[in-house]
Amino acid sequence: MNSVAVRPGEPLHGTIKVSGATKNSGLKQLAAALLAPGVTRVRNLPKVQDLEVMIAVLEAIGAKVEWTAPDELRLDTSGTLEPEAPYELVTQMRASINVLGPLLARCGEARVALPGGDNIGNRKLDMHFNGLNAMGAELEVSHGFVNARCNALNGARIVLEFPSVGATENLLTAAVLAKGETVIENAAREPEITDLAAFLNRMGAHVLGAGTSTITVEGVDELSSTDTEIMGDRIEAGTLLFACGIAGGEILLEGVQFENLEIVAMKLGEMGMRVSKAPEGIWAAAPERLRAVDIQTLPYPGFATDFMPMAVALLATCSGTAIVTENVFDNRFSFVDELLRMGADITTDSRHSVVRGQEGLSAAPVRALDVRAGAALLLAGLRADGETIVHDWHHVDRGYPDLPGALATLGANINRC
Ligand code: UD1
Repeated sequence: MNSVAVRPGEPLHGTIKVSGATKNSGLKQLAAALLAPGVTRVRNLPKVQDLEVMIAVLEAIGAKVEWTAPDELRLDTSGTLEPEAPYELVTQMRASINVLGPLLARCGEARVALPGGDNIGNRKLDMHFNGLNAMGAELEVSHGFVNARCNALNGARIVLEFPSVGATENLLTAAVLAKGETVIENAAREPEITDLAAFLNRMGAHVLGAGTSTITVEGVDELSSTDTEIMGDRIEAGTLLFACGIAGGEILLEGVQFENLEIVAMKLGEMGMRVSKAPEGIWAAAPERLRAVDIQTLPYPGFATDFMPMAVALLATCSGTAIVTENVFDNRFSFVDELLRMGADITTDSRHSVVRGQEGLSAAPVRALDVRAGAALLLAGLRADGETIVHDWHHVDRGYPDLPGALATLGANINRC
């Protein structure tokens, strides 16, 4: 069952509860739980492939993990930790690098395999390493591992060259146990950072300014474990909004904050869709066909790079031509070749795409190259004549608990095969 088949059908219709943001928020909080010995219960944490990898990383480090309900996990970090994240696991999932800051802070040392590249471009770690170095850690990269150690972490003023999500998270989770004050300037402002900081503060940390460009952390001597509930997944919510833009219809998304998707709502509004805040979450309605608008990706609160593939799929079916500019990753347009197989009219280089909208696309067998690219192809299939089969679906299952199921709930003609 590593493929998904989709046929165009009726416009989407209905109400759905958006999943917890396991990949972009839950994994980070699981890593942060290593900071304090004790038991953490994590709720609203649906299973995705990347969670399996993070659980294996945590178990390799010495934590005990147990499912207590379908979306609820119990993590026990009371025992002695072995501060090493093994190669076979880290190379499967980049977010494993998030254990570096917490391990260094709790154990005074960490050995983490380097994640390597992936399908969306070079993803360096220099800002993670430079920041930890500024806090007094010694880091050495050899034989594919980063070996880090410190006698004590000290507060520092760190200016990030780019508001990297991962670097902000790693530095934040190291700073909470450092001596004195750490200031992270040009910090990432993503809602997942705010979610993480709220969890750290409930553990006893003193974090101020999460969600703004300047995060200030006053280090404490120790933290205590506590429970957490993961925020609704804004990327899944956005994916469903783009699906509605492609297929038409009217949907209500529950369990997600409208404020986290304001730019998406604004862009979809410019395209002719209606997207509004509802008491339960987000309401949206789309006519048959939308108009093209230009899009550029930026760190939050800009248009998230993770929405870009879905936006390109939508623009491929809109009236008019749009220019899409990718400013976060340097090689995120490789999925366009798969859309071309479906009859899309797109010209692209490494950072830009010119998308000329077509009335409809042509169903074809295609391949998911990464999590969001695969989702985008499935969405394109909602407006392609015949049956589109998206192969290599495991990439999509890395980040979505069940995207085909969610779309089917809204009436889409989709099944796994
Ligand atoms: C996270 C998200 C990913 C999202 C991305 C940007 C998770 C699991 N992943 O990835 O879904 O697309 O944020 O919103 O939450 N960079 C450096 N040096 C560094 C760190 C980053 O040059 O030390 C560069 C990267 O190569 C990239 C850019 O900064 O070009 C953004 O990366 P970053 O924000 O760190 O993304 P991730 O945290 O890896």
